[in-house]
Parts: sequence; C-alpha cells; structure tokens
Amino acid sequence: MKSEIMKEGSISFNLAKNVFYNPEMQFCRSFCSLAVGAIGKKLTVLDAFSASGIRGIRYAKENRNLAKIDFLEANDAATPVLKRNLKLNKIKKASAIKKLYEKYFTSGFFSYDFVEIDPFGTPAPYLWSTFYGQVKKKEFYLSVTATDTAVLCGPEAKACLKNYHSKNLNNEFTHETGTRILIKRIAESANEFDFGTIPLFSLSDRHYIKVLLKIEKGAAKAHQNIEKFGFISYCNKCGFRSSGKRMQNECKLCKVTTDYSGPVWLGELHDKKFLESMIKLNKKRKYEHAEEIEKKLKLMLNEINMPAYFYDLHVTCKRIKTSVPKIDDVIKKLKTRGFKTGRTHFTKTGIKTDAGIEEIKKIIR
Ligand SMILES: C[S@@+](CC[C@H](N)C(=O)[O-])C[C@H]1O[C@@H](n2cnc3c(N)ncnc32)[C@H](O)[C@@H]1O
Ligand SMILES: [Zn+2]
Repeated sequence: MKSEIMKEGSISFNLAKNVFYNPEMQFCRSFCSLAVGAIGKKLTVLDAFSASGIRGIRYAKENRNLAKIDFLEANDAATPVLKRNLKLNKIKKASAIKKLYEKYFTSGFFSYDFVEIDPFGTPAPYLWSTFYGQVKKKEFYLSVTATDTAVLCGPEAKACLKNYHSKNLNNEFTHETGTRILIKRIAESANEFDFGTIPLFSLSDRHYIKVLLKIEKGAAKAHQNIEKFGFISYCNKCGFRSSGKRMQNECKLCKVTTDYSGPVWLGELHDKKFLESMIKLNKKRKYEHAEEIEKKLKLMLNEINMPAYFYDLHVTCKRIKTSVPKIDDVIKKLKTRGFKTGRTHFTKTGIKTDAGIEEIKKIIR
C-alpha cells in the first residue's frame, strides 16, 4: 500500500490511497481539540468516522484530559493506517473498531463522555443510534459535523425537509438558520431518549457547520428542548424578520406574505463561559490558526442573548439602493441609539442587533 508521512500541527500521520483526509478541516480540528481541552475533566472519547485518526489523535496528543480513546471507522483500508498513526504518535490508551457506526451503537449500551460524529454530508442518519447507545449515560458531550450546507442553508429545500424535518431559508442569514436547523434536528433525536441539549459552541465555517453540545439526561430537560423550537419569518420585499413559537404570516411593515424557516432551534448557539475558557486556553496553544480561532470565538460571544438572525449590511443597502457605509460606523450608531449590536461570526458583513430593519435603514440612508 502506497503511503506518505504528513504533518498537521505537532502530529505526524500516515495517509494511504482510499483513506480520507481533508487539509481544509485543519481549522475545525484545532477548534475542536481546543474545546476538548476547555471541557477540562477527564474524558473517554469515541472518534467515530475516524478515517486516518487524525482528529482523535490530535485530541489525545494536545490535551491532558483524555482517559481513553476509541476510533471507529467502517472502511477496511483505514484500520492499518490508523494503527500506524497511533504508534507514530505514541497513543497508548486507544483501540480501533472496524464497524458501521449505526451497528456499533445499536449493539449495546455505551458510556462515552465525548462522542465525535464526523461523517460525509449529513449526520442525520447517525443521531438515533447515538442516543440509543448512550441512553444510560447521565451526561456526555456530542460533537457533530454537517458538510451538507447546500441542504441546511442553500437551495436544497426538499432535502432539508427530508433529512432535517425543517424548511430552510436561502437568504442573507441562511448560515445561521442552517445551524439552528442542525441543532434542532439533534435535539429532536435527543428528545426521544429523554436527553436535553445545551450548545457549547456552534461554528459555521468554510463548507461545514460544527456544533458541540452538552447532553444531559432527564425528561424535563428534553421538554426544555421543545420550548426552544420555533420559527423565523422573513419578508423578501422589505427585509423585515422575526422569530417566535409561531410564524408571523404577514409582514408587520409591508403586509405581504412572509417566507419562513422552521422549526429551528431558537435557544442560544453558544455557552458564554465555555467560549471564554476556549479563548483563555487558545492563548497557551501554538496553533497555526490561533488568531483566526480567537477572532471567531470573540465574534461568537457577540451572538449570545441576541435575536436568532442578523442583518447583512450589503443586502440591506442594495434593498434601499444606497452605497455601503462602514460596518463599524453603523454598529456605533445603533449602539448610541441604545440597541445591543455587534458583528457576527457567520459573515463579515453581518450585524447582530436587537434593532429592527426600519432603524437600520434609517441609519444607513
Ligand atoms: C469525513 S470522513 C472523516 C474524516 C476524519 N474524521 C478526519 O478528520 O480526517 C468520513 C469517514 O467516515 C467513514 N464512514 C462513512 N460511513 C460510515 C459509517 N456508517 N460508519 C463508520 N464509518 C463510516 C468513511 O469511510 C470516512 O472515512
Ligand atoms: Zn415587508
């Protein structure tokens, strides 16, 4: 088998033909490894969909709090590569499981503190088995990647209904809506097994969405999930938007029928304390993307306790046919007028604010 030694951060690893590796995901792997460290307490980890093992090996090498790590992968070609990589990086408390994820998790009851789901495309088919297998666990951390952004955020509306049971909204804040649909879908599966879901961070980046959730056992906690489901209404004509338990069928401003997305997760996307501990820990790491990570984490802090959408400055200016002012000036003016306002990690031209579209238009006209 042809193989070559690669490097990612301080990790050396082997690749082989037919074993998946995407260098574009390095940022995501660093971000998540940092999150593993920020959890702090000792963890037993399942790196599922592990391919070469690069993700889990990084978690194990970069953090002191990994008690044990299992790697699960269905591809025959990956096992020898993974074993070589474990040896190369001197990872001892580890095992390689060659199985289909869904078969593994429905074959008994498991007790992982941290489960990594990093599949191709949608994670939806793997949620039910995760909660089934982990049903006896009081709490655990669930890290989920979705690379089907065309489905969650884009033009693939039918596929979104099929895989996520929600209508998407392909508009200026679609990446936030897509993230909220993903969390809602995870929470739906969690509900069926009496688990509550608490997002620790929600990252929309490059071609993927990554969320880390704390999962807690209890029927009352599952009920709290449902309390956080709702709808986002959007007027294509004037840009008015709102969110709530029910859809707002008519635009409050121009009285046309609104478009909508939902059900979506209307709860918080991040946990403030958790983001702060990631920021603190990131300063001690020497990641190639350390600066970009800090920037994203700080932008995420702005998104806490804010409406479930943002305003894209360029789209808003185009709507009223005016030139685009400096985003910082608009933010400053909104703040001066008493509105909670800040940038968002979803896009460079986005503004998170509790101001309505009328106030924003007044300021940029
Ligand atoms: C996106 S890649 C994983 C990338 C890897 N975690 C990394 O960071 O490089 C998805 C992997 O999941 C494996 N896979 C796909 N379906 C699976 C299933 N049902 N059970 C287990 N592994 C599966 C594929 O063989 C592939 O290696
Ligand atoms: Zn309107």
